[in-house]
Amino acid sequence: MDLFAQTQHHHQIGDFEQALAGYQALLADDQDNPQISYLLALLFFENGKLDEAAHWFTHVVTLAPEAAPAHYNLGVIFFEQGDYSRAAQAYEEAAKLCPEDGDIFFNLALTRKKLGQFDKAFSCYQKVLAITPDAEDVLYNLGVLCKDLHHHADAIWFFEKVVKNNPDHAQALNNLGYLYHMEREVDKAIVTFQKLIALDHNAIMASHMLAALTGQTTAMAPDTYIRTVFDSFSEHYDESMVDKLGYSTPDQLREMLTGEDIHRFSSTLDMGCGTGLSGESFQDLTEKLIGLDLSPKMLEVAGKKGFYDSLHETDICSFLRENKTTFDLFLAADVFIYTGDLRDIFTLVKERATAGGLFLFSTELADQGFCLKPMGRYGHAESYIKDMARETGFSVVKVVRTNIRKEKEEWIEGKLYLLRA
Ligand SMILES: C[S@@+](CC[C@H](N)C(=O)[O-])C[C@H]1O[C@@H](n2cnc3c(N)ncnc32)[C@H](O)[C@@H]1O
Repeated sequence: MDLFAQTQHHHQIGDFEQALAGYQALLADDQDNPQISYLLALLFFENGKLDEAAHWFTHVVTLAPEAAPAHYNLGVIFFEQGDYSRAAQAYEEAAKLCPEDGDIFFNLALTRKKLGQFDKAFSCYQKVLAITPDAEDVLYNLGVLCKDLHHHADAIWFFEKVVKNNPDHAQALNNLGYLYHMEREVDKAIVTFQKLIALDHNAIMASHMLAALTGQTTAMAPDTYIRTVFDSFSEHYDESMVDKLGYSTPDQLREMLTGEDIHRFSSTLDMGCGTGLSGESFQDLTEKLIGLDLSPKMLEVAGKKGFYDSLHETDICSFLRENKTTFDLFLAADVFIYTGDLRDIFTLVKERATAGGLFLFSTELADQGFCLKPMGRYGHAESYIKDMARETGFSVVKVVRTNIRKEKEEWIEGKLYLLRA
């Protein structure tokens, strides 16, 4: 066997060292041989040595600009390394050479999306569809892209096409459930959530939404549901809530203290602190500020702001049961929309409140008692809050009706409460 055949054999059986030595020896005599350079690049690539692989694939495309697989592999490597601009360039070169290769356009679409170039990503996916109509992953990704861009009708169209060909495609159904719900297509949303429950996919979320849409009031939203919603919302939460939806409940809660004989608080517990918007509003009023939340991603954002002395990933009741510390201020801004029955929380807050300690929170509205509303959030009647306050040992200091946040350009109304233990 000659050296080339021997080296290829070592490469094929996975003997990295021998194959490397062979290619190096071959290149010593013929350093601009594109075929051997390509095989060496491939050897590095297959063995996860991406920098070396990128070096040699680049060498190949310099020697042989028409070597489409080398461009393609450079795209894969740069994408893997998070260098999306160079990945896009490499895929573009490969695409010019192989305009009928759906894989290249699919990867280019993913790369364009990473670069935030959604229109370009969209046209790449369409090219793949032109090559392979009905390609499930492309239709699905187009749906995701449209959903991310808030083009809900288009997203529904793509996901419905996926489900038409594959009725058990759980991810597409999951997205459809969300989109039908957002678009108030109640009947379709109900059927979709039922299907998700039958498939046992994201069944906890689906059950909560099903209850909300069919008028069944449960005691509280499941922890997993809350965590999932806010983990995926954390990155855009501040921008979306404050800039787009006009949310200012933390500042409004602070205003509730105006006119009260308030000094500084020694210790404040921000329950459901999220990304720390209340921390920002109350930090100068308290010696110590403790935050808790179910969502680790929301807590991560809050942590970076530096307002809190400590942050805890837990639910409100567990924290209050397990920590015997007392507080003279409790905050819950836009949090009780995920708990219907507030008895346990009120009872535990009272147990952990110093004498005269304050409890400040917001709710959405309900006609009586508490109810789970079609959008999946709870509302509470003022009479319910007042009864609960009385039964658990609080006096109601102040109640103010207000706008909480916008939904489809309409204000969601709510109430702000100041209670004293
Ligand atoms: C709409 S956000 C409000 C966040 C923050 N209070 C604000 O004003 O921006 C609701 C937050 O409450 C958290 N949450 C809801 N129910 C909770 C519970 N029972 N225990 C802990 N955190 C909860 C959610 O994870 C989410 O971060």
